[in-house]
Amino acid sequence: MEKIVALCKRRGFIFPASEIYGGIANTYDYGHHGVLLKNNVIAQWWKAMIQERDDIVALDSAIIQHPRTWEASGHLEGFTDPLVDCRSCKLRFRADHIEEERAGDGHPEVRCGRAPSKLPGDYPECDLTEARAFNLMFETTIGPVKDAASTVYLRPETAQGIFLDFKTTLQWARRKPPFGIAQVGKSFRNEITPGNFIFRTLEFEQMEMEFFVPPDEVDSWHEYWLQERMDWYERLGLDRERLRLRPHGPEELSHYSNATSDIEYLYPIGWSELEGIANRGDFDLTQHAKYSGEKLEYVDTATQERYVPHVIEPAGGVGRTMLALLCDGYDEEEVEGRQRTVLRLHPQLAPVKVAVLPLVNRDGMPELAREIYEDLRGSVPAEYDDGGSIGRRYRRQDEIGTPWGVTVDGQTLDDRTVTLRDRDTLEQIRLPIDELGDELGRRLANPWRSPKLAA
Ligand code: GLY
Repeated sequence: MEKIVALCKRRGFIFPASEIYGGIANTYDYGHHGVLLKNNVIAQWWKAMIQERDDIVALDSAIIQHPRTWEASGHLEGFTDPLVDCRSCKLRFRADHIEEERAGDGHPEVRCGRAPSKLPGDYPECDLTEARAFNLMFETTIGPVKDAASTVYLRPETAQGIFLDFKTTLQWARRKPPFGIAQVGKSFRNEITPGNFIFRTLEFEQMEMEFFVPPDEVDSWHEYWLQERMDWYERLGLDRERLRLRPHGPEELSHYSNATSDIEYLYPIGWSELEGIANRGDFDLTQHAKYSGEKLEYVDTATQERYVPHVIEPAGGVGRTMLALLCDGYDEEEVEGRQRTVLRLHPQLAPVKVAVLPLVNRDGMPELAREIYEDLRGSVPAEYDDGGSIGRRYRRQDEIGTPWGVTVDGQTLDDRTVTLRDRDTLEQIRLPIDELGDELGRRLANPWRSPKLAA
């Protein structure tokens, strides 16, 4: 994990927020390459949810909703973590995580502040408080006067905005179950964590879809979405051996869930949740109908059949997907006696698809390379780099995960051909400048499998 954290900072992916003030707990900023990678992950999610289907529509609901939302959803009452403080090391822990680790169920997010090989409570100096329930929602107020009547909450899940808009969407989209509403956006949870980089952060981006189905079809749709979502992560290039499905035990289920399975990834901290896929039953629509007085149901106009749809919810995290991609893609190898670090990202996810590099900074090479770059960037994200030796520039692009490098050399000036270097195989071919665009388009469309997995 340390190597990935260092690479992310060095190459402008992700770095601690508010760093000049000493940082702020579990909060990170995304730099240029982080933003591009994040956008690509989100684009792949939308592609799978919307572009390749016709039974899901998109939504972007507000972060701050009417406060009754969270009474109805059960979050005000039940969205709590049991926390214990250590008076000795001043760290705060989840009591349930300590218990899980103690029971041998493995919880990678817990370690003693003074002796990391031990569990909180097991080191002589540990001095733990009783567990207390802390609500995870961030409160703020609307308007200049801070009183109970103006208290609102930053959403702890994007899902509730979807339930609030169920009726409107059903009407305008003229759908009938099974159909889904998808959204991507920030959620906020006042969580504690021992600092596993972007695995658990106070603000995080969710990719959530609520799939509304006839009640008697809910189990089969749950199975369907478990498979779909596993396949999606595999299609992003993640190693199937590092992905698994784990059903929640009864004590783990969220207050709204009848059954949940997590897709877990084998992060450097151990197997941990990448995405949760829950059967929320009719809990949310029934609760919001009760609290709002609106009828939230589906009525079949032909048969007059009416029912409250049940809901299957695949809920993934953008940050966790990025962390899995970074961990999976990170590779070190020796090439001709030199160590190289390379990020083997799926070309469709790579922040930059092609780097255009003049071999040396003279003889008209930079000018021609810049011309090629300006031509290519209209169709693929590209970078131009003429700073430092060619070796250094390749190493930089390898660490960014750029799948292809175009080099302009002396021969280019004579015959208008360039070399095209492949990040994974290091193979270089020579081709005319005029064929570059087509060749890159063809390569981008090709299926990709990490050579780490093929090996
Ligand atoms: N909506 C499910 C979750 O936020 O975990």
